[in-house]
Amino acid sequence: MTALSTSCSIGVIGAGTMGAGIAQLAAAAGHPVLLFDAMDGAAATGKAKIGKGLEKLVARGKMTEGDVAALLDRISVAGSLEDFAGVSLAVEAIVENLDIKRKVFGQLEEIMAEDAILGTNTSSISVTSIGRDLKRPGQLVGMHFFNPAPVMKLVEVISGVSTDPAVAETVFDTAEAWGKVAVHAKSTPGFIVNRVARPYYAEALRLYEEQVADPATLDALMTEGAGFRMGPFTLMDLIGHDVNYAVSTSVFDAYYQEPRFRPSIAQLELVNAGRLGRKTGQGFYDYRDGAEKGEPRAEAVADDVDQFAGFTFEAPFDCGTVMIQPTDGRTAKAVAQTTGKATIVYDLVDKASGSTRVAFAASPDVAPDQIERFVATMYLQGLTATHLPDWPGLVALRTVAMLANEGFEAMLQGVADEDGIDKAMRFGVNYPKGPIAWAKEIGLTRVLSALDALHDITGDPRYRASMALRMAAS
Ligand code: NAI
Repeated sequence: MTALSTSCSIGVIGAGTMGAGIAQLAAAAGHPVLLFDAMDGAAATGKAKIGKGLEKLVARGKMTEGDVAALLDRISVAGSLEDFAGVSLAVEAIVENLDIKRKVFGQLEEIMAEDAILGTNTSSISVTSIGRDLKRPGQLVGMHFFNPAPVMKLVEVISGVSTDPAVAETVFDTAEAWGKVAVHAKSTPGFIVNRVARPYYAEALRLYEEQVADPATLDALMTEGAGFRMGPFTLMDLIGHDVNYAVSTSVFDAYYQEPRFRPSIAQLELVNAGRLGRKTGQGFYDYRDGAEKGEPRAEAVADDVDQFAGFTFEAPFDCGTVMIQPTDGRTAKAVAQTTGKATIVYDLVDKASGSTRVAFAASPDVAPDQIERFVATMYLQGLTATHLPDWPGLVALRTVAMLANEGFEAMLQGVADEDGIDKAMRFGVNYPKGPIAWAKEIGLTRVLSALDALHDITGDPRYRASMALRMAAS
């Protein structure tokens, strides 16, 4: 364990949203903290905001007045960077601008001790690049928190080309000592989370553009079906389409127009319309007073319809007239053509994790009364069923397969190891399962089959499977 001891002083530069949260965390862990902001009065305001936030915890009985006073006592407002001379770890959370960050770190290394650590909370700039002109680039490491920093568990510890591994290790252990889940990552565009999460938005946007279903239905399938905390459209409306589109575009460009990261025209059009999401009152949903959100689409359960007796999930079920099976990515029509039997395929269902909704598709020769029976069967299993066009991989499998594929690709490129990638997605964006562990649970062959089906039908190279996934599945 090489965590910095709580007697070590922590400096935070930038007292905005992230800086204030990081200062609070370090002080809560017991460190003396110096908070600096270039704007007059901003550090004091940042400290006052921390106090206000903590009062809420007192009201909820999570902290005492005494704890709050002691925590705030540990945070001092710095008048200038010169005050950072005795700081062991400085975490920078200023404006996202390479030149300004380089300049601040250049000043800091003149002021701070030779073995002091320089941490940057950048979310999109190369850590290698920020450290380029430093005398001791080995001392610079990414310490990427998620918003709100005191609440979100993950810290990505980003090593640039020149970062000293011992420095990364100290920051990793220090983040864990602060109660965080730390993961190591290599300085690459998007690091882990902002890269591996792209398909969560991208596949939802593609499904919408392909007119498979409306946002409310797709959101419900991802939350009530696949177990995500927030549906992709609700989440994009919350993040803001300007921000989400800009991140997608920057990752796409940073990877030399890699088709997997191609941004969405539908999202661009929302940006063009000024419909940026919640903050402007309209995005995919309408948040203005009196507006309706719209219900997810589902099939009505017909009266007096028998279920398919003996039906069980996760294995092909032959009910005589129709074959019912979990999707492996092939369309129902394609399966029916190989088996010679009318086929219904259904999306990922995880009863143990509480799925209450499922999408399905049927080959053209499934009779309407058989679809009614399938809907009734799902209903008796506790699932609301939505009949979708016969699309490869439906909704949840398609999305999870693409998330896992990105995870495998990041692993192949040494961005992080399997455990780091899965932890990053669970604790950075609250996914119900790490994408690689999830793919293993679903079955790597099935995940690969879904990607291959998408690739075959669309001809789009974005769906090509990662070599790492293909090799792991073989
Ligand atoms: P913010 O705009 O809330 O705060 C930035 C603060 O830095 C402001 O108070 C500003 O006065 C101060 N500042 C600007 N230039 C400075 C300088 N040269 N020296 C000292 N202080 C200076 O920004 P936010 O959202 O806190 O972001 C800060 C950094 O954290 C950025 O690099 C951002 O990419 C990153 N980040 C942001 C996340 C978010 O969700 N907001 C999440 C993770 C990382």
